[in-house]
Amino acid sequence: MDPKESIILALDVEHFEDARRLVMEYRDYVGMFKVGKQLFTHCGPKIVDFINMKDSKVFLDLKYHDIPNTVSKAVIEAAKLGVDMLNIHTAGGLTMMRESRSALTSITKKLQIPRPKIIGVTVLTSIDDNELKVMGIDITVKKLTKNLALLAKEAGLDGVVAGGEDIEMIRELCGDDFVIVTPGVRIGEKKDDQKRTITPKEAIEKGATYIVLGRTLLENQEPFLLLQSIYKDILNALSEKQR
Ligand code: C5P
Repeated sequence: MDPKESIILALDVEHFEDARRLVMEYRDYVGMFKVGKQLFTHCGPKIVDFINMKDSKVFLDLKYHDIPNTVSKAVIEAAKLGVDMLNIHTAGGLTMMRESRSALTSITKKLQIPRPKIIGVTVLTSIDDNELKVMGIDITVKKLTKNLALLAKEAGLDGVVAGGEDIEMIRELCGDDFVIVTPGVRIGEKKDDQKRTITPKEAIEKGATYIVLGRTLLENQEPFLLLQSIYKDILNALSEKQR
């Protein structure tokens, strides 16, 4: 498998022009580009159209979290944009996840377009046990992640977004076909606001389907060299797994 297919680059910029430049620069090494709240709020669907036009994949990372009716309608619109993957918060509950999944199936059948993968966000990697406690949630991140991943699977979602230390547990619980997207990827010591981090190679070795590269790449002095070395690391991890 081409390591590129495991790499998602977060287009965490404000302007279309900056996003366009990142897509053009990195598309040989990145299989999917993540369009998040900042970029989508600023420039809307035209960035999705642009990425599609360049034959790259789009992960629409708007992390929908609302009542079932509202999220179902939002995922329908996302599917119509032609994204390859989108996400919703598992904390929105089983009914919301089920209805969104079913809305996605119906609209894509009706329009005869490919169904985007629908992924559930478990516990954000910026949250640790202490943050949960402060919110009045008296279980560990690990236990909550386990519950939410199982719920996502029960609802028929294609996979989850989860932190590095939970990859193996989810892979074991939810099976080989379940998509695991791992953000909070770091190479050096700098963690920013992330509390739970992992290196790209470790994430793939543990069984992540995708890693999300954000500030660790975009704020590096030599981003292109770094991306090439991550690509090689992932290639090694994938070949070791195949042995
Ligand atoms: O911290 P970093 O810059 O690496 O974050 C990369 C991206 O991953 C951000 O766009 C953030 O929204 C996303 N993210 C996520 N789920 C998390 C943590 C980060 O989708 N649990």
